[in-house]
Amino acid sequence: MRIVSVVGARPQFVKLAPVAAELGRRGMEHRIVHTGQHYDWAMSGSFFDDLSIPAPDVDLGVGSGPHGVQTGQMLIGLEPALVDLAPDWVLVYGDTNSTIAAALAAVKNHLPVAHLEAGLRSFNRTMPEEHNRVLTDHACDLLLAPTAVAMGHLRDEGLADRAVLVGDVMTDVCLRVLAGADDPAAQQPVAAPELPDRFVLATLHRPSNTDDPARLATILDALAASPIQVILTAHPRLTARCTEFGIEVSRGTLTTVPPLAYPQMIAALSRATAVVTDSGGLQKEAYLVGTPCTTLRAETEWPETIEAGWNRLDPDLRQAATWADPPRPDPATPRSAYGAGDAAARTVDALLARAAAPFGTLRA
Ligand code: UD1
Repeated sequence: MRIVSVVGARPQFVKLAPVAAELGRRGMEHRIVHTGQHYDWAMSGSFFDDLSIPAPDVDLGVGSGPHGVQTGQMLIGLEPALVDLAPDWVLVYGDTNSTIAAALAAVKNHLPVAHLEAGLRSFNRTMPEEHNRVLTDHACDLLLAPTAVAMGHLRDEGLADRAVLVGDVMTDVCLRVLAGADDPAAQQPVAAPELPDRFVLATLHRPSNTDDPARLATILDALAASPIQVILTAHPRLTARCTEFGIEVSRGTLTTVPPLAYPQMIAALSRATAVVTDSGGLQKEAYLVGTPCTTLRAETEWPETIEAGWNRLDPDLRQAATWADPPRPDPATPRSAYGAGDAAARTVDALLARAAAPFGTLRA
């Protein structure tokens, strides 16, 4: 069986890593297509190196652009690439423009397509990721869901017969990196960069937080007023907007650093006093390592982190005074909502099982 993974943006490389490793362990044929949505070394190449992902077989080099241009150029490149690779499964990941482009290219060419991280919903239709999630799920033949909540959303949209609960592959990677499993000689987590004893780790990249100058300045002011140091790992979108709007990022207790490599990010996260973010993945990783998180959004796709008390939503910045010292649940409470790190194995099992017994009506 030949599986073709299509990825393009940073969080997709993290999700691809355990799947590529599992397919490799089972000796299965796997090809990787990179759309080129993210292209900087810090946003792309370092993830392939640090997470031991094989180099892409095809790199479309699409790069940045408005949504229609970026997605359209991906479609133009993906159609011949996928047809040529003749996969038994096209596997698409997460919720980016690369995800929807690959799902569309596959379904239009009658190639079986599976969506990993299916069923996540924010119910906020102003988010580009929400369009990508909904449209991708409805286009795909097999929906690989990370949580019971995601399974419920798929059921509510009439997609239950295509859905399989496999768990969260980002948990596989996070737990593996935390355990230092990539470096058996050291058996230690990879060293973090120079970090103070107490600090807030922050990230900010959602258009709703970065693209309005007044909103962006208010968030950065609140971070700079923190009583302890704030280390903000700056996504290229944030850096670009700050330059465009003439906003100075580093001031007060706020320091900006370039995007961190994945192992450094996990190490920094586990040493942080608290997290302030608008990233989906980081909310969940904060929960996994046991660092309390404040999310600068009105909703989350990972409600389990809120229910467990490790995350809270603060869209209006009302909790800014306690960002550095948020409520902290008992660290001894199990943080197992996202599984034990076996989601990639369950993903490959589902691909094998559904290829042997595909959905008759969908394939007819
Ligand atoms: C994308 C995803 C988002 C995901 C995020 C993770 C969509 C709609 N959004 O948002 O779901 O959470 O990736 O990072 O697909 N840039 C660089 N170098 C790079 C990549 C981007 O400088 O390697 C700059 C671009 O010039 C652009 C900006 O970053 O101005 C945004 O890039 P883009 O891929 O359009 O969206 P993201 O904000 O990264």
